[in-house]
Amino acid sequence: MTEVVHTPRVFSGIQPSGNLTLGNYLGAMTRFVDMQNNSGMPTIFCMVDLHAITVWQDPAKLTNATRELCAGFIAAGIDPEQSILFNQSQVPEHAQLAWIFNCVARMGWMKRMTQWKDKAGKNQENASLGLFAYPALMAADILIYHATHVPVGEDQKQHLELTRDIAIKFNNDFGVDFFPVTEPVIEGAATRVMSLRDGSKKMSKSDPSDMSRINLTDDADAIAKKIRKAKTDPDPLPETYDDLSERPEARNLVNIYAAMSGKTPQEVVTEFAGQQFGTFKPALADLAVDKLAPISTEMSRLMQDTAEIDRILGRGAERAREIAAPILKQTYDIVGMIRS
Ligand code: TYM
Repeated sequence: MTEVVHTPRVFSGIQPSGNLTLGNYLGAMTRFVDMQNNSGMPTIFCMVDLHAITVWQDPAKLTNATRELCAGFIAAGIDPEQSILFNQSQVPEHAQLAWIFNCVARMGWMKRMTQWKDKAGKNQENASLGLFAYPALMAADILIYHATHVPVGEDQKQHLELTRDIAIKFNNDFGVDFFPVTEPVIEGAATRVMSLRDGSKKMSKSDPSDMSRINLTDDADAIAKKIRKAKTDPDPLPETYDDLSERPEARNLVNIYAAMSGKTPQEVVTEFAGQQFGTFKPALADLAVDKLAPISTEMSRLMQDTAEIDRILGRGAERAREIAAPILKQTYDIVGMIRS
């Protein structure tokens, strides 16, 4: 079998399931913008509404959250002309390929997914079938574009490994070298932004405490207050970043500062060595407000013209389908499905 060289292409997605957090912004969006501007590869970014409904979503809120996410992408620096920006349900090829992958992936693989175990919890019998099959749809999102590079935060690593397993099994089962084996791109100081209240938990839009996260829509006062109240410890900042290994809350704030300032965590520690969090926190709050306030202002401005947002999403979906449709067609041929 000759090895097919796949054209490098970037794909990633975010769920439109409510507030965008600083974790989404630093772990995903800023890196999407960087790849759009500097990777030299074509970039495709998706609002994964089909994933969002694996748990209940109020329909009107889903519509609004999808538009707000689109506004967030654009405000953060995604150019809808340069990148392809769209919502998943407008490109039916995602769900069509996901069905095929449901038949390739094994139950045992899905049962091992930590996100499934976390989200379904003790109530697995009552979780949706969609929540269980979620990673196969995610593999389809990526592979329907033959995407080779997928920038994500640390929490998506296991799903990307599964995407590779699905691609490899499909290729083996059908004796082809059709789907690429995708590279996860998990880089930077903020691949895992933690809760401001508990350094052992990921910052998440589903955390019941709003004080645990910074939302992209928070105003300057809210951002400053949340950082001021963020949990830390009584010690000053050390001289080396490694000395923060047992201080998860302190390390988290340093990582956030590093990601927002473009410095390395060690450079941040060097700058603030010996200082107390009483000094560091206001500096962090100023930086966060400087970075985030323009984004939230721009999001509000864009949200005033929802018809324009819908137009952008529709146009993005058309462009996405130009890539996805031929790949689905070839997949059906490989699987042996008649298309007359
Ligand atoms: P989602 O919507 O939970 O998160 C979107 C992106 O934000 C990153 N992220 C974080 N990064 C650092 N620290 C945090 N606290 C943090 N919270 C979230 C996530 O890692 C992710 O990159 N299953 C995906 C969406 C998806 C997808 C895809 C991603 C569907 N299909 C195909 C890539 C490729 C999810 O639920 O992300």
